[in-house]
This record gives sequence, C-alpha cells and structure tokens, in this order.
Amino acid sequence: MMRFNTKLIHGGRRHTFRELGTIVEPIFTSAVYVYHHDIDRETPHVLPYKYSREDNPTVAHLEEKVRELDSAATCLAFSSGIASIRCLIDSLVELWGKITLVVPLDLYGSTLVLFRKYAQRGLIELITVSPGTDSIVEELKYLNSSSIVVFFEEISNPILRVYDIEEISRTLRDKNVERSLIIVDNTIPTQIGIRPIEHGADIVVYSASKYLSGHNDVIGGLTSLSEKVREIESQLWHSRRLHGCIMSPFTAYLIDRGLKTLHLRMQKHEENARAIAEFLNDHPKISEVIYPGLSTHPDFKISVKILNNASGIVSFRLKEEPDLSRMFKKLKIIIPGVSFGGPETIVTHPLTTTHRYLEENERKIVGIDNKLFRLSIGLEDVNDIIEDLDNMLREV
Ligand SMILES: Cc1ncc(COP(=O)(O)O)c(C=O)c1O
Repeated sequence: MMRFNTKLIHGGRRHTFRELGTIVEPIFTSAVYVYHHDIDRETPHVLPYKYSREDNPTVAHLEEKVRELDSAATCLAFSSGIASIRCLIDSLVELWGKITLVVPLDLYGSTLVLFRKYAQRGLIELITVSPGTDSIVEELKYLNSSSIVVFFEEISNPILRVYDIEEISRTLRDKNVERSLIIVDNTIPTQIGIRPIEHGADIVVYSASKYLSGHNDVIGGLTSLSEKVREIESQLWHSRRLHGCIMSPFTAYLIDRGLKTLHLRMQKHEENARAIAEFLNDHPKISEVIYPGLSTHPDFKISVKILNNASGIVSFRLKEEPDLSRMFKKLKIIIPGVSFGGPETIVTHPLTTTHRYLEENERKIVGIDNKLFRLSIGLEDVNDIIEDLDNMLREV
C-alpha cells in the first residue's frame, strides 16, 4: 500500500512501464486504435482503446492516479473544470429527471451562471442559499424533494468560506430522501487540504487548471465518483463522449507531471499565504483579511477540524474605494488576472472579473463589492510579494 505522497508520484495506470522501462507516462497521440469487434463497447474504460474522444491511455493513467488520490471508485477527466460540472449535471438530469440543486451563492461565477441556465430550461430546480454550512443545513431540513443534490466549493470562491461536509452529509442522510447527493468542488484545497469522499461527499470535481496542474499552463477538469454513485459513471462517460470534451493527452501529461509536486507546492503556497495574511492583517489600508488559516475567519473551527492545508488564496477588503489601474500599475511581480493555483502570484478583482455576472443582490449577500480583492499567493520569495503588495497599497 503506497502512502498518499508516494501515490502522487507513482500512482496511475502506467501503460508502458514494463515494456519500455519508461518512468514517465508517455503522451499517447494516437486518435484511433485497432478495433476489436468481439468487445462490448457500451461501458466506460473498456480496453483495448478504440478512439481518443472516448478514452486515451495518457488520460486513463491520470484518471487512475486521481481516483487513488481521492479514495474514489472511479474518475473521469474533462477538457475543463466547467465541462466536468456540465457533464455531471447533464448526467444526473438524464438519470433522475428534474433534480433539486441546492447551492450556496459563494461559487465561481460561471458555475452559478451554468446552473441558472439549467434552471431556466426547466431541467433543474435551483435553490440558492447564503454562504456557510448553516444555511445549507437549514435549507435541507425543510426541503421537500425526492432528488436532492447539494453542490458547494469546499473552500469557496472568492470569500473562502469552509464547508463542513460531515454535517451537511449527516443532515442529508437523516432526511432519508429517495435520491440524494453531495458534490464538492475541491479545486482550492486539493486532496492535500481534504479528500471529501472520506468525509461523506459522493462526488468530487476539480478545475485542474489550478493547483493540480499548478503552473498556469493548462485547462482541464476531473470528476471522482465514490463507490455509492458508481452507477453514474457510464452516463457521465457517454455525456463526455457526446459533448466531445475529454481531456487532451497533452493536458493529462502536464497535470500528471504537476501532481508529482502537489504536496510540496501546497505546503509552500500555504506558508506564503499565511505570511501574507498576517502582513495584510496589520495593514492600515485594509478593513478585512479573509484566510481560512486565520483564527478570525468565520469558519476557523471547521477549518481546523477538517482541513490539512488552508491553501494559498487570501482575500482582503480595502477601507477606501480603489483606483484599479493606478494600483495595478505599481505591481512589478504580482499579476492582475483571473485564475489561481500557479507559481505566479495573481491579484483578482472579483466584482469586475470572475463574479461580474452575479446579480447585485447576490453580490451583496456574498460580500463581493468594489473593495474586495482575491490573491492567489504564488511560490515566489514571500518578501518580494509583500514588498509588491505594500507598493500597490500605497496607491490606495
Ligand atoms: C472553484 C472553481 N471551480 C471550477 C472552475 C471552472 O474551471 P475551468 O476554468 O477549468 O473550466 C473554476 C475556474 O476558475 C473555479 O475557480
């Protein structure tokens, strides 16, 4: 039995390990494989491979590694994080008919927009609640539906609430509904922070474009299913096949390569983030610092209970209204941008970028305003990041 950090390096399917002695899984570029007519092709992952829109060896190697890392029954890789979420909801609707989807409002903006589109088409009933475990639990207690799906980000975007999967799971099980599911978007903590299936989640999704690949050079998504929901796999696989959104083998290679250093990177991201959070906490221009590793965080107790790593995102709120272009012009290292999880520190202004499609009342509930900033703390020397931030804040 390999331990977790060893699995990051040695896990996976490894197609040519014995035959060629390769120690790195190759990028299999073949789109087409010899067709074996005597094999039933209606189930996922049937070997030998047939066509790379359905399955591919490099992708299968990564899927197997992530399955192991998530303590899952199976895993499928997609062309993006949003494609993983889309195919998953499609599959649930296909299998169960109209589902009731309960989500807190503190989600990545496009995820919420996607859910709203499903609701507008009458495919799902969408119930949005205020951020925080208590709001979900309260909603679930009184909710009347035979197919309940709860979706949340384990550390949420951009206000970094931490969700108590165990409590949500307990509440949902106690209801004894015909069909119920917990889907956790684990993009920010990664498996280093928490392995949600071990805490009661049924499905875990990732934007692998962030920490898992880790170098700001990849777009990809991954979905892990627990044993309890394994029957969804076939539908999910067909959905991926028909949307044509399997991950490319080049992407799978880069994510596999990134995973080999995930533990080291997350450790450093967290160390740097903690130092930045403490620096910002004492800064006279800032009214609020949000970081799950700070004892002032509203979910600090949950964070201590279930997270092994508080990740590398720090959000903060200015006291005064910002002049964005003046502030960002001062930056020499930190990059104004919209993503996170790479070695470069990135500053995001959610109101005008990632969360601009939220309605005004929703932004109010979540706390997204003109003064809120999100930092993806990179792997640079922390003193350089602090100096750069300090220069930027002088312009406020
Ligand atoms: C938490 C979270 N989930 C999902 C996504 C979507 O992933 P992708 O951009 O890879 O499609 C993002 C993107 O920023 C995200 O931040």
